[in-house]
Amino acid sequence: MASPLRALAGRVPQKWRRRVPAPVRNRLVERFGHPAPPFDLASHPRRLNLGSGWDKRPGYLNVDLHGFHRPDLVGDVRSLPMLPSGRYEEIVAQDVLEHLERDEVPPTLREWRRLLAVGGQLWLRVPDLLSLADWLRADDAPDRHRRVMQLLFGTQAYDGDYHHAGFTDVLLIDELHRAGFGHCELELRDDWLWEGDARAVARGSGPNVSLAWGHGFYRREADASGATWRWGEHEANLLVYCDAGCELGLELPLLNGEVQVPGAGVDARCALASPPCVYASPPEPTGSASSPGPARRRRATTATSASESAGASRG
Ligand SMILES: C[S@@+](CC[C@H](N)C(=O)[O-])C[C@H]1O[C@@H](n2cnc3c(N)ncnc32)[C@H](O)[C@@H]1O
Repeated sequence: MASPLRALAGRVPQKWRRRVPAPVRNRLVERFGHPAPPFDLASHPRRLNLGSGWDKRPGYLNVDLHGFHRPDLVGDVRSLPMLPSGRYEEIVAQDVLEHLERDEVPPTLREWRRLLAVGGQLWLRVPDLLSLADWLRADDAPDRHRRVMQLLFGTQAYDGDYHHAGFTDVLLIDELHRAGFGHCELELRDDWLWEGDARAVARGSGPNVSLAWGHGFYRREADASGATWRWGEHEANLLVYCDAGCELGLELPLLNGEVQVPGAGVDARCALASPPCVYASPPEPTGSASSPGPARRRRATTATSASESAGASRG
């Protein structure tokens, strides 16, 4: 039986199937095989792994375009009408968004936002265009450039394995905010991927702030007490993004291992504050973090002495 027919047969309720006389049923099964089991939403968890590929995760509904990956659901992550709105607490979309055409990114993010409950988490990873450009600039070896092209444009082994969209921290966070996400926190992984999470926010819930820890910062670490920090070089890039006019307070406490955590590091707290704008160090005379719209790239100067603390200063 052709697979759509088999899938259709799978949707015929058991009690109706029993009305077909057993000898006829047996002959049909002999000829076409058993009908595909119907997709039962209730038997699947409230976590989605979209574009799962070979990374099939237990505890998730794994969705992929291709049956050969053996996902729980063969589907197109751009539109998943079979999945109900607001049901899911987490979506993982690792190395997927860049596989969509550029114009499809905003509606796809809105579709993912539809699936999440308010407060739900979208965890994603995409290549960072600027890091890869730096790799090209830093090394003239053709093999190195060839490798970067694969990272930029995808392995291209099959349909769905091509990259059609590129991202920077600014662009990714802006698209996420426009689609109804906020409080994103991204960090660079392996020096070429933006990886992190975003929360599904309620419409009209007010401005929210997102961060991207760029070059010069390292991945977040945590100790047993739950304290978190990250290592920072003397100069490092931190992107602070707010999608609406607001006064922004940014604190970058510099931590010293002997005092607070087992290692010197830097952590940030971001808060929307009522005027006046509060900085841990004086703001620059021109420009202001309170401007709406596009984020401003800042270079955070870090130091490892416990007694020092620094705010963001324009680099
Ligand atoms: C680079 S792989 C990533 C797989 C997996 N998430 C991981 O991290 O290993 C990209 C996956 O996205 C899937 N994909 C691409 N476009 C898709 C679409 N529109 N709908 C569903 N899956 C898609 C591909 O089939 C492929 O399995």
